[in-house]
Amino acid sequence: MSAAAAIREVNSKMTWAGNFYRSAIGKKAVMAATGVILFGWIFLHMVGNLKLYMGAVHLNEYAHWLRALGAPAMPETGALWLMRIFLLVCVVFHIHAAVMLTKMNREARPVGYRDRDYLAASYASRTMRWGGVIILLFVIYHLLHLTTGQAHPNFIQDDAYSNVVTGLRVWWVAAVYIIANLALGFHLYHGLWSMFASVGWVHPKYNSWRRTFATTFAVIITAGNLSFPLAVLTGIVR
Ligand code: HEM
Repeated sequence: MSAAAAIREVNSKMTWAGNFYRSAIGKKAVMAATGVILFGWIFLHMVGNLKLYMGAVHLNEYAHWLRALGAPAMPETGALWLMRIFLLVCVVFHIHAAVMLTKMNREARPVGYRDRDYLAASYASRTMRWGGVIILLFVIYHLLHLTTGQAHPNFIQDDAYSNVVTGLRVWWVAAVYIIANLALGFHLYHGLWSMFASVGWVHPKYNSWRRTFATTFAVIITAGNLSFPLAVLTGIVR
């Protein structure tokens, strides 16, 4: 294939991807795909954090393992940075698609809905939007708190265990974690539930299966994440 033909082919593929993303269904697909990736990461992060219950050595070993992932084939923190960039791209697309879909919905429906089902749907999507904003603000605070330490008065570099324990011992910080993780739980539940609708699984015969799946995963992640501030506040972890 000549260079010009190759460029034409790449261009046409990019145009196809651009057109797909411009459509409502394309944005929903992108929201679902990035949502599943972010969800998977949140699940693994919660499972990794369970090492808090095994003590300082285990949690810190795990935090160190994350940083050294891929070494010596890659420079230390190389794989971690790739993962961070990938997650950031997912977050940007997830938010961009959500904002654009909201705009498209508003433009298609300048007068509010009257029907009860539609009202319920718009209540859910409002909750999703506010939940999303709370989660985003929480992640920014959480990074400044436990990763970079600017928002942590007793931050010790490379001592994740001590940072979690001294950080979450402060009642209002624990409250921030609890509120944000409750918001995350609702967001995950509704996100998982509506993801199936986006891929066309809306038949009533799937509904109980969809509900069980969304509830189970949202409850497992929320229970795990809520347990950390609660365990520190009650002195179970110290
Ligand atoms: C109570 C629950 C949580 C605890 C105890 C916790 C704990 C931690 C700790 C200790 C770190 C720092 C690891 C290190 O650099 O050594 C961290 C990093 C991080 N956490 Fe959490 N986390 C919690 C919930 C969440 C939630 C709900 C999210 C996202 C919605 C999240 C997103 C992140 C991100 C993005 C990082 C940075 C990872 C990196 O790039 O190094 N965390 N978390």
